[in-house]
Amino acid sequence: MKYTYISDLKDHVGKEVTIAGWLYNKRSSGKVRFVIVRDGTGICQTTAFKPEVDPAVFETCDKLDQETSLKVTGVVRKDDRAPGGYELSIKEITILGESKDFPISPKEHGVAFLMENRHLWLRSIKQHATLRVRHQVIKAVRDFFDNRGFTLLDTPILTANACEGTTTLFETDYFGQKAYLSQSGQLYNEANAMAFGKVYCFGPTFRAEKSKTRRHLTEFWMVEPEVAFMDLEGNMDLAEEFVEYVVGQVVEKCRNELKILERDITKLECVKRPFPRISYAETQKFLQTKKEEYASSADPELKKLSEDMLKNGLGDDLGAADETAIGINHDRPVMVHRYPSAVKAFYMKNDPQNPEYALCVDVIAPEGVGEIIGGGQREESLEVLEGKIKHHGLPLEAFKWYLDLRRYGTVPHSGFGMGIERMVTWVTGTHHVRETIPFPRLMDTIWP
Ligand code: 4AD
Ligand code: MG
Repeated sequence: MKYTYISDLKDHVGKEVTIAGWLYNKRSSGKVRFVIVRDGTGICQTTAFKPEVDPAVFETCDKLDQETSLKVTGVVRKDDRAPGGYELSIKEITILGESKDFPISPKEHGVAFLMENRHLWLRSIKQHATLRVRHQVIKAVRDFFDNRGFTLLDTPILTANACEGTTTLFETDYFGQKAYLSQSGQLYNEANAMAFGKVYCFGPTFRAEKSKTRRHLTEFWMVEPEVAFMDLEGNMDLAEEFVEYVVGQVVEKCRNELKILERDITKLECVKRPFPRISYAETQKFLQTKKEEYASSADPELKKLSEDMLKNGLGDDLGAADETAIGINHDRPVMVHRYPSAVKAFYMKNDPQNPEYALCVDVIAPEGVGEIIGGGQREESLEVLEGKIKHHGLPLEAFKWYLDLRRYGTVPHSGFGMGIERMVTWVTGTHHVRETIPFPRLMDTIWP
């Protein structure tokens, strides 16, 4: 049996087709039955009128429950009032699988309940729309790099050394030897860049972060470009062009999804280059002013924000509250560069002009989503890098292969990592990052 997808009904107006899907909703009155079917590609209203159809059709319609799987044969009609714009007049309807007491009804449910039923929650219209946007983001990410001559090279998930510090490693037993789930493909990406020039990796990464915020997952997907002979300025140019492209593609290709999600598209349409570039030192002055302004604000949310900002000391990495304050004061992403080297990873190159600061950049999204990109220029000197590894208390032996990249034809190089879920959270206007991945892994969630 060949079924027609609901998204293709426009090509079959006036013809008889069979669609297969699940009951999304139904309505009835004396002589008419409306059976609304979803098949993953769209939603279609199918209709039966008495006495035009066989009484058996009416009987079947009355037996349908939410999420019953079924197939419907009928003629396609264009109808602008129908959801999706096309209707089917039911000639035949068959139940494929029953669905008694589907747990997620159209009424409100608590998030804990929905998360326990994530495998079924995925069928809801908003979850479906969010994950379609995720798909488009991933496609745009790949197109962006593929169209610019980058080679995709996968990096290992099982690794013997830490990339982003040792505190958030998931440890595993590798045939009697300690191994860790990768926090980032960067170190291997650097080796790949020395062989291929422009590369990117895209895969799952793991962080045993004990933070229950709306921005943190323990397993998330990251895309990481790495380019030989590129400096920090070039890295910021690339990040900016990349973010503009991905957001632009979503706005262009996901109109329907963004509408379902009630996303204010004007907020995305202004995401155009150039993005503001502000040094960490400059952000400190800006944040100090905002802290004072918000402390005396009548808005309780801003007052709370200023209290949260106070918890972060001077010279620290930017806290979530600081990022929020930066984000809500700009209409496009902000690139904060040159953080104090003390708060950044061992591989960062120090700024020759001011060695207390690192040649790094974080891209902070507007609307309070926080950091979507982290990256920078890598230290290319063998001696300096060895010193940094020791200073960070990391075992030199484990980095022997990585140091070889500085031993044999070292060059300046840079790259960054973007978390797919943070990006999707921002473009869809979702509150919590957990709704932007089919099966989120959080500190307290590994099921389903
Ligand atoms: O800033 P991070 O830690 O940078 C790196 O891992 C670099 N090695 C990347 C590179 O230069 N190749 O992480 C990069 C991005 C963050 O900006 C954020 O978008 C995302 O990864 N991210 C997370 N997303 C969800 N949950 C978490 N726990 C995340 N931690 C980082
Ligand atoms: Mg970071």
